Amino acid sequence: MTVKTTSLDSKGVGELKKFVENLGLDDSAEAREGALIEVLHKAQGIFGFLPSEVQELVASELQLSLGHVYGVISFYAYFTTEPKGEFEINFCTGTACFVRGVGKVIERFEELVGIELGEVTDDGRISLGHLRCVGACSLAPVVMVNDKTYGNVTPEMVPEILADCQ
Ligand code: FES
Repeated sequence: MTVKTTSLDSKGVGELKKFVENLGLDDSAEAREGALIEVLHKAQGIFGFLPSEVQELVASELQLSLGHVYGVISFYAYFTTEPKGEFEINFCTGTACFVRGVGKVIERFEELVGIELGEVTDDGRISLGHLRCVGACSLAPVVMVNDKTYGNVTPEMVPEILADCQ
């Protein structure tokens, strides 16, 4: 398989190839499949996220199908195919948060940050995303900024939360 890596940083591509080479995998399918999570982890560390070009590169390096690589990425919430900002703002869109108005909170963030859910600002500072129930339903609606949790969030609280993203 020839992989088009022109849109990827060539230093990053080289680093990932070297990483795979240093794993010293034998040709068995078990060895290559067994290394997939480790390689994806490294790739996300290098590129920040796992767009289709990176998935193709990993598939090619490990001689695995693209479907297999994508299946693992979509199974683990840790892996992301979307770019993330320095401040990763995630909205819980579980039932309790949805019922208690997270939609209005999301709209206010989109308005003030100037991007839509799933996007990252041009300067790479803020990204907006969503999560499934984070297990804090009594605090719904819940917003996470990196590891910090904000509960009972209202649209009026959005400027205050954004002020923390400095
Ligand atoms: S539904 Fe949002 S924390 Fe459970």
